Amino acid sequence: MLAGRTWRARREAAPVTPDTILSVDGLTVRFDASQPLLTRLVTRTGRRTVHAVELVDLQIARGSTFALVGESGCGKSTIARTIAGVQRPTGGGVSFMGVDIAAFRTRRASMRYRRDLQMIFQDPYASLNPRWRVGRIIAEPIVTHGLLKRGRELDLRIEELLSTVGLSPSDARKFPHQFSGGQRQRISIARALASNPAFIVCDEPTSALDVSVQAQILNLMRKLQQELGLTYLLISHNLAVVAHMADSLGVMYLGRIVEQGDAGQLLDDPQHPYTRLLLDTVPDPHAPNRSRTRLAGEVPSPLSPPTGCAFHPRCPVANERCSHEIPRPVRVRKAWVSCHAVEEARLPPSLPNMLDPLNNTGDAA
Ligand SMILES: Nc1ncnc2c1ncn2[C@@H]1O[C@H](COP(=O)(O)OP(=O)(O)OP(=O)(O)O)[C@@H](O)[C@H]1O
Ligand code: SF4
Ligand SMILES: [Mg+2]
Repeated sequence: MLAGRTWRARREAAPVTPDTILSVDGLTVRFDASQPLLTRLVTRTGRRTVHAVELVDLQIARGSTFALVGESGCGKSTIARTIAGVQRPTGGGVSFMGVDIAAFRTRRASMRYRRDLQMIFQDPYASLNPRWRVGRIIAEPIVTHGLLKRGRELDLRIEELLSTVGLSPSDARKFPHQFSGGQRQRISIARALASNPAFIVCDEPTSALDVSVQAQILNLMRKLQQELGLTYLLISHNLAVVAHMADSLGVMYLGRIVEQGDAGQLLDDPQHPYTRLLLDTVPDPHAPNRSRTRLAGEVPSPLSPPTGCAFHPRCPVANERCSHEIPRPVRVRKAWVSCHAVEEARLPPSLPNMLDPLNNTGDAA
């Protein structure tokens, strides 16, 4: 199925070792999406819960890039926000440098965490105060964290940060609207770097940018990672971006990670049917006429996820077990895969098309 594919991850994923900087353990996040009580009484409907993230485990090695991919609404940003401490988990937790972040309740401890961990968002314009000059935008975290007082030293630091991200020191006097999208993302990166973080959560950092600008920003991020020893959690819809950046990869489907591990292995030899179909949706420039297996059906609602393996209504190799038993992760070389077909060693080399996903309740194809 993937013959001729040219995905290449840049290096192998680090194993889970004491150099794990961030660990997510059994993370579950649910949202109450119920109608107001009166409406529920009148319409005789019950409470509604969004199962955004279910029992997610992952470890990220210091200095590496862990990428999360999956269709819209599968829970990527919810994981990012929980890691950043702005979303409380319903269950499980996040540890940073070995300490559960729930312990960072005091103002001082939470400030320290916010200093060590920064976020870059998809839309740099929305995340930059349009009324502030760039110098003030970059100065704010430095002053807030008490790293430098206003004065010559702070001005020099702002100039240094602007140069680090490829902007001119004189840009400190301009406003965000005077810059292009790519330059604004450089300003966001300079602001994120201002507090000397160890970890940056990057939620679709280049998806609003033109392709050529995307490459420049991604190359800047890699350069900064090498120079400053940064660790990235990278969320992206774009598998080419992931292939360029990721050491490790987690593939999400409806709130769960279905396959994770070494990015090179997952991109070159995916095991989980969802990962295989997801990769198969991407055109291969080396085989433009190659027949591709279709990813059939819609993503089910996280308000009522399917029983068993949540992918079973769309999976071309689902069987009866899949519809009622949630698969556990099994080790496949440098990855973990949650799939009964993988565990039972019954995956065909290429997946059949599923023409009628709703009727797929039979045995393996
Ligand atoms: N505050 C909230 N209240 C209710 N539901 C929410 C809330 N935040 C997220 N959700 C729901 O949780 C699910 C996961 O959302 P999330 O934003 O994490 O997805 P995503 O993978 O980042 O999607 P996208 O690729 O579109 O950004 C979605 O069904 C979303 O509608
Ligand atoms: S074979 Fe079963 S467990 Fe594996 S992805 Fe398909 S439905 Fe899920
Ligand atoms: Mg998102």
